[in-house]
Formats: sequence, structure tokens, C-alpha cells
Amino acid sequence: MNKMTPSKTALRSVDEITSSRRLRRMRKADWSRRLVQEHHIRVDDLIWPIFLIEGENREEDVAAMPGVKRMTVDLAVRAVERAAKLGIPAVATFPKIDISKKDDRGSAILDADNLINKATRAIKKAVPEIGVITDVALDPFTSHGHDGILSNGVILNDETVEQIAHAAVLQAAAGADIIAPSDMMDGRIGAIRDALDANGFQEVAIMSYATKFASAFYGPYRDAIGTAGLLKGDKKTYYIDPANTDEAIRETEQDLVEGADMIMVKPGLPYLDIIRRLKDTFAVPTFAYQVSGEYAMIKAAAMNGWIDGEKAMLESLLAFKRAGCDGILTYFAVEVAERLKA
Ligand code: PBG
Repeated sequence: MNKMTPSKTALRSVDEITSSRRLRRMRKADWSRRLVQEHHIRVDDLIWPIFLIEGENREEDVAAMPGVKRMTVDLAVRAVERAAKLGIPAVATFPKIDISKKDDRGSAILDADNLINKATRAIKKAVPEIGVITDVALDPFTSHGHDGILSNGVILNDETVEQIAHAAVLQAAAGADIIAPSDMMDGRIGAIRDALDANGFQEVAIMSYATKFASAFYGPYRDAIGTAGLLKGDKKTYYIDPANTDEAIRETEQDLVEGADMIMVKPGLPYLDIIRRLKDTFAVPTFAYQVSGEYAMIKAAAMNGWIDGEKAMLESLLAFKRAGCDGILTYFAVEVAERLKA
């Protein structure tokens, strides 16, 4: 027989009950904080963007991206080998094309032996276990730095789509595992899917830069691939207005209907609301690109001693996971992977 009299607590008022809640109980020790931690950064979440240059055994610093290098293909292969050893699942390649090879149509994107395709072949040969993601945008190849064919001040949509669909087939033939069009032309995902399928590349996936904003955070990247001085005007007629969210839904829906396997939001940290909205709406593999300007901000503040760079790096990546990302393209990938292994 239970001799206990009804305890006082059973009769507590709502006020008493709520006043006994203490959220700090689970925060008091490392073990309990670890136990209740909801989100984690894992090496499996990381995609490493790398910059390529022509030549051999040469690397260059990128001024506004301390720690980031442009590498010739041979050095890039070695760097990717190290990334694979660290467990990084994929790399994304971005070429700095010599000015002599650029024209107003970005024709060199259709060269099966261009820098990006050469790099893919070399990487897949040496490190077949790592995923290679190639961008099919025209901007590294155009003399005006735009992602499309420019005619009388207008970026031509359909002509651009035709060209990048063709380029996507060449990139797939070189061994790319994922084609990631970053140009934001209408109809490009469907055109790329059709072109890949028609050429026997049914297994090559498409990661759509579904929501790419006309952002100020791309500055250091344009320096890295040498388009900064070339760009005439801005990209507002094809990238999304940073003020809009509904448009991100419509863009993404369209890309998924056309056949995108995964979606990306770019830039990252200033657009966490978009990531969350897209993940909740579509429930598809969702990625963020922590872009060059975001990287530069953290590095610059850290180099000035104004923030703890490593902690800020990890906290920013955790924010992406919290917002709903399955993975993150980040220039910090190797640094994070090394840190996670330590
Ligand atoms: C353009 C492209 C951009 C980036 C990658 N591909 C944006 C741009 O230059 O307009 C930005 C990446 C970064 O800032 O890290 N196709």
C-alpha cells in the first residue's frame, strides 16, 4: 500500500510549475550540453570550392581571401587528394581563364579541353572517390564578365541556355558528377537535363543554384577568377533581388519541375530565412554557398583580432545546419575538416 500522501507538487499552480523550469540545468556541463545538442557539422556536409589557373606547379594567393589559392591543375589534384583523405565528399571547381581566351559569347566554355574540363579529368583520374561539381556559367569565359551572351546591352536567355546545355554535356563527358549551373537563366535546368540524357549522361546529377541573389558578397570571387575588372553593369536582370522571398519559391519550384536533383541558396548567411523556407516547402536536398565575401569578412575580422576566427567559422556553419541545409559549399571546408579530425 502506498502510504505517501499526495505531494505538494501535484497541486502546484501553473505559476509555481513554470517558475521551477530551469533551462540552465542542461547547460551546466559539457556532457549535458553535448547530449542535448541538436545540430552538428560533419565532414560529410562539406563541399570545397577551388580556383584553377593554367600552367604547372604554380599557385597564387587570392588577395581578399586569405588562405585561398588559385592552383594549376597538378597542384589542385594534390589538394583534392588531401581533401578526400580528410573525408570531404565533393569539390566544386572554378576556373580563372586567360583574357586571351575570352570573347563576348564565352565560346571557350565549349572547348572540351578547357581548364575546367582538364581539371575534372585529372581529378577523377587521380581521386575517383571524390565528387566533382562543375559550374556551367559563362562568366569565367566572357570578355564582359556576365553569365550570359550579351547583345546590345541585353543578356540573351535562350541562346545562353543552348550554349550552357552543350557545355554541360562536355563537362559530363570529362567526368563531372554534378552539373551546377549558376547563371540563373530561365529554362536552363530542363535544357541541361535533356541534353545530358540525350547524350547518355542520365546518371549525372544537377545541383541548381536555384536561388542566387544579386549580391555584394561575390566581390572577392570576381577577383579570384579575374572578372572583377571586366564586369560591365550588374547582374540584376538575371539574379534575384535580395529583397524578395516569394520569388525564391517560384524559382526553386521551376527548377525542381525541370529536373534539379538538389538546390542551393547563394549567398548563405544573409539568406538563412530563404534556406529554411525552401527546405520546409520542398523537402529536397538543400545546400548553401557560403560565398567569398562571407569568408572574407570572417577572415578579415579574425586577422585583426576582432573575433575568434575559428569559433566564428564553426558557428556560421552550424547556422546553415540549423536553417535546414544538408550541406554547405565553403572555402573553410579543409580547415573545418582538419579541425573535426583533430
Ligand atoms: C557566377 C558565379 C558567382 C560566384 C560563383 N559563380 C557570382 C558572380 O560572380 O556573380 C560567386 C562565388 C563566391 O562569391 O564565392 N556564375
